[in-house]
Amino acid sequence: MKADLTLIVGASGTVGSELARLLKAQGERVRLTTSQEIAPGETEKVRVDLSTGAGVEKAFEGVTKAFLLSPPGYADQYKILSPLIRQAQKHGLKKVVLMTAMGVNANDANPFRRAELELEASGLDFHILRPNWFFQNFNTFWIQGMREQGKILVPAGTAKTSFIDARDISEVAAKLLMGATAPRALDLTGPQALDHDDVAAEISRASGAKIVYQEITPEAFRSAFVKAGVPADYVEVLLAIFGFLREGYQAPVTTSVKDLLGREPRDLKTYAADFRASWI
Ligand SMILES: NC(=O)c1ccc[n+]([C@@H]2O[C@H](COP(=O)([O-])OP(=O)(O)OC[C@H]3O[C@@H](n4cnc5c(N)ncnc54)[C@H](OP(=O)(O)O)[C@@H]3O)[C@@H](O)[C@H]2O)c1
Repeated sequence: MKADLTLIVGASGTVGSELARLLKAQGERVRLTTSQEIAPGETEKVRVDLSTGAGVEKAFEGVTKAFLLSPPGYADQYKILSPLIRQAQKHGLKKVVLMTAMGVNANDANPFRRAELELEASGLDFHILRPNWFFQNFNTFWIQGMREQGKILVPAGTAKTSFIDARDISEVAAKLLMGATAPRALDLTGPQALDHDDVAAEISRASGAKIVYQEITPEAFRSAFVKAGVPADYVEVLLAIFGFLREGYQAPVTTSVKDLLGREPRDLKTYAADFRASWI
C-alpha cells in the first residue's frame, strides 16, 4: 500500500507551517501549497492560486489526507473552500481537517459555515476546527501599531477573549490527521479569557517594550486597514468579528485542546515569552 500523502493548504502560514513541521517530524509525507513561485528542488511544494482555483486539481493528485483553510483577505471563504472540498470528495480522501473560526456555526449563511455544511454532507471522514482569535495576531496583524507607537490599536472594547496559541491548533490538526479520535467539530480556545490590557501588560513584561492597548473606533480601524491594502470587504469581515468580540461571544473557554493533547493549551505568558523578539 502506498504511504499517505497529506496536502496542507496555506502551508507557509502561521498554522500550516507548524503543521507541516509536526507531520514531517512524524515521518509523514506532505504536499505544501503556496501561491509563490517554486524554486527548483522544492519538491514538496505545489503552486496554487486559491482565488482563481488555478493549480487546485493538480495539487490533489495522489493525496490521501488534507488540511484546508481559506487565507485571510478573502471575504467569501466558501468560494475558496468549496472547490477544495469537491476535490477532496473526488479523490475519496480518508481524512479532511478544515479550519474555520469560532462562532461561524451561529449562522448557516456565513461563508465559512456554508463550507462546513458542504464538508459535513460530503460523505468524507472529517474534522472541523473552529479556533478563537490567535495570540499570533499580536506579532502579525497588529504589529505595526505596536512597533511604531507602542499601541495595540483595535476596536475590542474591554471584552475578554480566550485567545489561542496557533501552535496548539497545528498540534491538534496534526493529531487528527494522524488518526486521533475526537468530535467532528472542535471549538479551540486558550486556557483563559483575557482582555487586551492583559495582553499588552504581559507582552510589555516579556519583551521589555512599553506596549499599551488603545481602543479605536471601527471607523479608524477600517481606514487604517484599507489604507494598508487589506481588501475592503475583508476589513468588514474583521469588523463584524470585532463586534462579536465586544459583545463577549469570544470569551468562553473550551477544553478541546486539553481533551485531545492531554495538556493545557499554551497560555499568554508562554506565547509572549516565545515571541518576545517580535516587539523589541
Ligand atoms: N488570526 C486569527 O485570529 C484567526 C482566528 C480564527 C480563525 N482564523 C482563520 O485562520 C485562517 C488563516 O490561518 P493562518 O493565520 O495560518 O494563515 P496565514 O498565516 O495568513 O497563511 C495563509 C497562507 O495562505 C497562502 N495564500 C495566501 N493567498 C493565497 C492564494 N491566493 N492562493 C494560495 N495560497 C495563498 C499564503 O502563503 P504563500 O505566500 O506561500 O502563498 C499564506 O501564508 C483564516 O481562514 C482565518 O479566518 C484566524
